[in-house]
Amino acid sequence: MKKNIMTTVVLVFMLLTLPLTLSAAEYQHKLEEKDITFAWTIQGDEIHVQLSAKTEGWVAVGFDPIDAMEGANIIIGAVKDGKVKIEDHFGDRKRGHSSDEELGGKNDVKNPVGTEEKGITTVSFTIPLNSGDKYDKPIPADGKGKVMLAYGAGKDSFTNRHPFNVVYEINLKTGESKKVK
Ligand code: HEM
Repeated sequence: MKKNIMTTVVLVFMLLTLPLTLSAAEYQHKLEEKDITFAWTIQGDEIHVQLSAKTEGWVAVGFDPIDAMEGANIIIGAVKDGKVKIEDHFGDRKRGHSSDEELGGKNDVKNPVGTEEKGITTVSFTIPLNSGDKYDKPIPADGKGKVMLAYGAGKDSFTNRHPFNVVYEINLKTGESKKVK
């Protein structure tokens, strides 16, 4: 009898936590820093990314920056009036970035999805590890690389500066990470 009760308790617990377990398990790796989360899965020659931040503005990730934002392969996204906009950008200067399309390259973002709920903006997308575009950089899927995370505030405009930014060195394959800035 006792065993039956225990089995029922375990089953109910599993049923209740299933949705949580599924969403957490959606991505292989997750990095949480203050008010921003970067989750990712490398699959074949692509990387699936989810970015979430406590903002009603934009949220972004940048791979392999050289000097501040210069040289970084940036993906920036925001949700406005329920509509998601995610763009492929490049750090064409130390203090800014432009869209690949504006620079003469192409937008390599696939599967753009986003929500803005209770002041939290979450976007997800897929990009190739090596798009071949002049304004992207091969993403190091097998070793360490610098990854920057940032989010804007208030406005959805992609030119609105960030109140928060951070730089990590991440091994995208193992998920091992170290904050470098
Ligand atoms: C939206 C337009 C943006 C503006 C106007 C802007 C502006 C700036 C400025 C003025 C700095 C200081 C640069 C310096 O050290 O002299 C900076 C630093 C930085 N930005 Fe942005 N930024 C923008 C977007 C982004 C995006 C999309 C990311 C990507 C995730 C990002 C990540 C960073 C990081 C990590 C730093 C610090 C770099 C360091 O200390 O080495 N920024 N930004």
